[in-house]
Amino acid sequence: MGGIYRIIGGTRLAGRCEIPAAKNAVLPILAACLLTDERVGLENCPVLEDIANMLRILEALGCRATRSGRHVTIRPAGAAHCEMPDALSKRLRSSIFMMGPLLGRFRRAEVTYPGGCEIGLRPIDLHLKGLRAMNVAIREAHGRIYLDGSDMRAADVLLDFPSVGATENIMMAAALTRGETTIRNAAREPEIADLQAFINAMGGRVSGAGSGMVRVQGVNRLHGASFRPIPDRITAGTLLCAAAMTGGEIELDGARSDCMDAVLAKLREAGCRVSAIPGGIGLDTPAGLRGVDVFTQPYPGFPTDMQAQMMALACVAEGTSILVENVFENRFNHASQLVRMGADITIHHRTAVVRGGRLTGARVTAKDLRAGAALVLAGLAADGVTEVENVALIDRGYERLEDTLNALGARIRRVD
Ligand code: EPZ
Repeated sequence: MGGIYRIIGGTRLAGRCEIPAAKNAVLPILAACLLTDERVGLENCPVLEDIANMLRILEALGCRATRSGRHVTIRPAGAAHCEMPDALSKRLRSSIFMMGPLLGRFRRAEVTYPGGCEIGLRPIDLHLKGLRAMNVAIREAHGRIYLDGSDMRAADVLLDFPSVGATENIMMAAALTRGETTIRNAAREPEIADLQAFINAMGGRVSGAGSGMVRVQGVNRLHGASFRPIPDRITAGTLLCAAAMTGGEIELDGARSDCMDAVLAKLREAGCRVSAIPGGIGLDTPAGLRGVDVFTQPYPGFPTDMQAQMMALACVAEGTSILVENVFENRFNHASQLVRMGADITIHHRTAVVRGGRLTGARVTAKDLRAGAALVLAGLAADGVTEVENVALIDRGYERLEDTLNALGARIRRVD
């Protein structure tokens, strides 16, 4: 994996930056473009590797995808077949979101079994169970999944766990399936509500997103739309942590505080002053940081995608913090790397105990997207120089993170 960040720590971040559309909203919305054969325009889409891969997948299925700056246009009329390309699917777990739209459009789908990734096995049993409840016939063989939706119908689906991806797949499969499909124990993440809004902008009839019970009235067809996905709450949270850890101050243009209650409350508890400003969020850290306890939960609980960043913050806070990762089974990859920087962290199963202190620069390796972001934050706060390897993993979810941080006063160079 390519790329190294060379970070000179110790500068206080200050300034204003704007937050692009959320990666985890754009990815399912791109998949949902398959549900229409008319043009779709998406605004404010960041240039991210995961989004580029999803555009490649859509093109491999026959769609045309073009980008002009942060505006992405999809012309799905040419979508002609329903076999997902193996190689591309392996590079992007979210390709599994294609099952729902392919079934919606073609009543058939053939996808690659997505591998696990650095943070866990990432099973898709809940996706398949929900689609089977809609009478989709599913066969798995040779690492491929063959789905036959010729007889699929609306159903009442109860999810064993509020899985984000499973909720999104079932919403998309149900959007063009006559009758009312209900999804109980549905994920409540803001990205679910955004997918609902996008499907409705195309003429769909989805309601209840965010409430845990999503209702989808199938319609005969969906038309094109222009849409601006919600801002990225995880990028916003990551930048707030960067400012807090360097004793700085920041204003985030376009960030939605109403989607970030758990993160903002935790930052306040850690000693930050957080305020909603016109069109965004402001933060400064009048005194030092205090250690806090973090228990990751499905939304509206504290997001697992911010756990690594909060562990980095805990390393430079006064006192002890306890972080419990309840969502993924292997999401402490950053801990060993933070210890290389002088952090005092002990791990017991899903619990990390962090005793705050000072960090010193070291050569460390990003092992997953958010672990990489946490190491960048640690480098900003550390004494001396930190080199973060595997920056390509960070590019999956952050658009030129070094440029954003340098504009706030950081000293980061990308060296390959
Ligand atoms: C989405 O992944 C996000 N990715 C993840 O963000 C995020 O961490 C996660 O939701 C939780 O918020 C995208 O939206 C592209 P889940 P997803 O299905 O849909 C288990 C990032 O850093 N599970 O809610 O895969 C699963 O193993 C990424 O941006 C099953 O057991 O998350 C996990 O333990 C990382 N069976 C838990 O549920 C299933 O069929 C949550 O998974 C599906 C999931």
